[in-house]
Amino acid sequence: MTDTSTGTIDLSAVRIALIGAGNMGGPVGRTMLDAGVRPENLQVVNSSPESSERAASELGAIAAASRAEAVRDADVVVLGVKPYQILDLAAELRDDLPEGAVVLSLAAGITLAQLEEALPPGTAAARAMPNTPISVGEGAVGLMRGDAVADAQHELLHALFSRAGVAVDITEEQVHAFIGAAGSLSAFVFAIIEAMTDEAVRLGLKRDLAAALVQQTVRGAATMLAESGMHPAVAKNGVSSPGGTTVQGLAALEREGVRSGVAAAMAAAADASRAMTKG
Ligand SMILES: NC(=O)c1ccc[n+]([C@@H]2O[C@H](COP(=O)([O-])OP(=O)(O)OC[C@H]3O[C@@H](n4cnc5c(N)ncnc54)[C@H](OP(=O)(O)O)[C@@H]3O)[C@@H](O)[C@H]2O)c1
Repeated sequence: MTDTSTGTIDLSAVRIALIGAGNMGGPVGRTMLDAGVRPENLQVVNSSPESSERAASELGAIAAASRAEAVRDADVVVLGVKPYQILDLAAELRDDLPEGAVVLSLAAGITLAQLEEALPPGTAAARAMPNTPISVGEGAVGLMRGDAVADAQHELLHALFSRAGVAVDITEEQVHAFIGAAGSLSAFVFAIIEAMTDEAVRLGLKRDLAAALVQQTVRGAATMLAESGMHPAVAKNGVSSPGGTTVQGLAALEREGVRSGVAAAMAAAADASRAMTKG
């Protein structure tokens, strides 16, 4: 995987159609605005006019009257609907797509080949697999490039995700591992943070203090590894005094199977992604 985030392209004239600004499409729209897309160049459409208006006003963008209107002048058409809707939507847009537009699907389990088959021949199609922490600029995005995507279009996609956190090129085979290691991993981390916070409360801390301490420690540990390049085992050994509190806790962690539980969760997510992919 190569991190090719550039952020050097001027996005002020780039026009985006965002069809499906929900839990994932919304943050994708937000990160594109953060990267430099002008709000008046981001056309949003959901399943009803009211929903389109609501999503557009949350983003400070424009609500399009219809899917056809949203894509009419778009440079990039983002498909943020549910996976089962993607191919019908792509087929519906066939006649409205402007020449030179890139179609970017966020859907899990729908391959580039399936998407390309539903679109007019030669359409530039790509996939992005984001996670929700992109909404605070600390997410991860895996980009998959279809054969018809030109170099300039590929650079444009990277520029659009330049404020998302990290954006890497992956293959469609790697997307299953990517979902385990990033796409779904954020939810596993939320669950672990919840468990740690609950236990800190049980140990006697007030919930707001418990939450602040746990979140700061998780953030600090990740930042320390990222900034130092230190192996996690070295960092862990560095705080393990003989017979001390941390080694006792680490031993309990291993006895309870936390390491294998985390591995099983990641493997289950990757397996589910493989099972969803039929193409
Ligand atoms: N959630 C994640 O963490 C995540 C991560 C990576 C990838 N994805 C992918 O992102 C995609 C969306 O998932 P999600 O979790 O964001 O789902 P979601 O919250 O249900 O959002 C789906 C959006 O599509 C809109 N929509 C439905 N039918 C439409 C239509 N006919 N025309 C225009 N808009 C329509 C919905 O609008 P209304 O609200 O008006 O119905 C809603 O805004 C999926 O393909 C999923 O695989 C999700």
